[in-house]
Amino acid sequence: MRAFVYDKYGPPERLRMAEVDQPAPDADEVLVKVLAASVNAADWHVLRGRPLFSRATLGLLRPKHQILGVDIAGQVEAVGGGVTRFQPGDEVYANLLDHGYGGFADYVAVPVDAMAAKPANLSFEEAAAVPMAATTALQGLRHHGELQPAQQVLINGATGGVGSFAVQLAKASGTEVTGVTSTGNLELVRSLGADHVVDYTTSDFTRGGRRYDRILDTVGNRSVPDLRRALAPGGKAAVTGFTNMRRLLGVSLRGGRDITQVQAHVTTRDLELLSELVAAAKVRPRIDRRYRFAEIPAAIAYLEQGHARAKVVVAMT
Ligand SMILES: NC(=O)c1ccc[n+]([C@@H]2O[C@H](COP(=O)([O-])OP(=O)(O)OC[C@H]3O[C@@H](n4cnc5c(N)ncnc54)[C@H](OP(=O)(O)O)[C@@H]3O)[C@@H](O)[C@H]2O)c1
Repeated sequence: MRAFVYDKYGPPERLRMAEVDQPAPDADEVLVKVLAASVNAADWHVLRGRPLFSRATLGLLRPKHQILGVDIAGQVEAVGGGVTRFQPGDEVYANLLDHGYGGFADYVAVPVDAMAAKPANLSFEEAAAVPMAATTALQGLRHHGELQPAQQVLINGATGGVGSFAVQLAKASGTEVTGVTSTGNLELVRSLGADHVVDYTTSDFTRGGRRYDRILDTVGNRSVPDLRRALAPGGKAAVTGFTNMRRLLGVSLRGGRDITQVQAHVTTRDLELLSELVAAAKVRPRIDRRYRFAEIPAAIAYLEQGHARAKVVVAMT
């Protein structure tokens, strides 16, 4: 089968297309024919082996996993001996972040607890846009407890992969949503459902008049005192992104219980919840750019610039 492989940390040009053996599913796995994938920040972090401490798990000198790709959608080709929930031909979507990556290939073996039936009203490309970003948004928003209607919620980075889902999910919970983005993206944030927008190129949300019950910071560019200043009494913030080690350590060491760094883990249960929200038209992935399989390095390079407008997807053609 075709796969994009790499054997040394570095830029997207390190990736090369190769012919590799098709994986065989273990007892609790499903072999999926990948029809679409999406690109996530995790792909370029792992490709570059950044931040450096992540190499403790990714491989100290060389990457342990040769094939990247965490988000996929496709069709079940075969099932392992212990699998009863899926059968060949089923349309599914999945996330491989906790399971060794491998999505940038024609076939991948996926553990059943990292996948779910594909939402019927989404194309494969749209479905592949969902798992990592939408689950991170979902788990970040409910990290401090379920959102309550009428709460004031701020999404920093409202037009990114995570943020574009977070705005829609927060609206679906009946909250009043403020999205932070740059001038050219204000309309996009409104179209996602935000009640208020803040242009970070001209305003600082931590110094405006409004205070928030919940902040989801998908960018990770603000200090703990900044976030604290923007919170209403009793308010809480979840940070899913990070821009540098100082910010990451700041949140981890000084955030306390109310300002916390959140690491998302995609589960079947959350994928099924997202499928319901998609079916009910409360959430819909927005696609910025579509690439073909051979263009995966270009797709990663584009995302790495940090200004994608929602999701970047790959059709495996
Ligand atoms: N913790 C987890 O489990 C988890 C999971 C997924 C992702 N992440 C992390 O979360 C972060 C975001 O992921 P993503 O997939 O959403 O990334 P992304 O799609 O690459 O985010 C790009 C977006 O960020 C916006 N942005 C850039 N600088 C900004 C600023 N100063 N203020 C507000 N918005 C800004 C851009 O808007 P403009 O073009 O308008 O600047 C763009 O729309 C990454 O650091 C990623 O590693 C963490």
